[in-house]
Amino acid sequence: MTTVDLPLLPLGRGTDLNSERGVECPGDLPAPSDPELVARAQAAKDKLGDRVFVLGHHYQRDEVIAFADVTGDSFKLARDAAARPAAEFIVFCGVHFMAESADILTGPEQKVILPDLAAGCSMADMARIGQVEDAWDALVDAGVADSVVPVTYMNSSADIKAFCGRNGGVVCTSSNAEVALEWAFEQKAAAPDGAKVLFFPDQHLGRNTAVLKMGLGVEDCVVWDPHQPHGGVTVEELRAATMILWKGHCSVHGRFSPAVVDQLRATVPDVQILVHPECTHEVVLKADLVGSTEFIISTIEAAPAGSTWAIGTELNLVQRLARTHPDKNILFLDKSVCYCSTMNRIDLPHFVWAMESLAAGTLVNQIEVDPETARWALVALQRMLDLPGKSHRD
Ligand code: 13P
Ligand code: SF4
Repeated sequence: MTTVDLPLLPLGRGTDLNSERGVECPGDLPAPSDPELVARAQAAKDKLGDRVFVLGHHYQRDEVIAFADVTGDSFKLARDAAARPAAEFIVFCGVHFMAESADILTGPEQKVILPDLAAGCSMADMARIGQVEDAWDALVDAGVADSVVPVTYMNSSADIKAFCGRNGGVVCTSSNAEVALEWAFEQKAAAPDGAKVLFFPDQHLGRNTAVLKMGLGVEDCVVWDPHQPHGGVTVEELRAATMILWKGHCSVHGRFSPAVVDQLRATVPDVQILVHPECTHEVVLKADLVGSTEFIISTIEAAPAGSTWAIGTELNLVQRLARTHPDKNILFLDKSVCYCSTMNRIDLPHFVWAMESLAAGTLVNQIEVDPETARWALVALQRMLDLPGKSHRD
């Protein structure tokens, strides 16, 4: 593997005695998962049989992914959940907003279970329904609300998806943000001063998609900060903007920096930089390729042997890619460990507990969206699933 004079994790391969990181352990390591827990998880899954369907997001730990019936990014998992009407239990190995979406997309008799209720998402928490309603009121007062389509990233609570459903808006994921924005701008194409989008909670996905895919400039975007009076923007700025971006971000993807990209380009021959669109605009501008987790995986699968990649997304996925593609040189685009702490809440003990409880007839950790919220959230989710053309592209 390439020797890099950088404090980057070489993902378990190689030895660098000058660094505290990346030093290989000689000899055989014991199994990462307790074999007894693995056997209990398998026994519970066997006992439940077709009554249970296990979904695993790509950022989940390996020991949990091992029990997933399907893996995917948030768009694929939403579709997969909706396509399993026969399963009585959907065990969602991911985070809370994904389980909520699965509950909305599945039948009333199906139960969605999140093995650890502490598996939330800090980005989703950055937009609360009361704050979103205040922002909308400000758009009404500024006389622009009639030109605005609200677009929420999948990474948001069900009540915010319902807000979008009620107000002519749509849900998007990192796989289909471009198609969703195209759709949104078409809805208000006749607006006298042009269509606008209120995009939440991830300002970076909104800005990256608007600028890199829709041909807008950064100057066409304003940032609404829910913690500032009137969002920190003037009425004139709201009227002039095409994209009104919510001041939210992913604490995991927000860590990647342009400086590390520069260092890598200067020191690692032929390195290609592959990042998720939740990274900042500055990082995305310096990357070779940008796309959702499904896109990142398919890019690495199609890459030639011997090629070198520095990947800017969650570490469980990057480590899995490095392990499953030993013929490619895969680096992590950060100087320190960068797991998503809430995704990591789903571990084998919680998974075993949830599965054994279900197998014993006890329903635990059900995620249930109230019917009125679910009804409107489904409108916005269905608009996403019905998006024209390729609704799952990067
Ligand atoms: P995708 O699954 O849409 O790639 O999103 C990544 C993410 O941060 C999920 O929480
Ligand atoms: Fe939320 Fe970021 Fe974790 Fe995804 S990776 S669940 S957006 S904090």
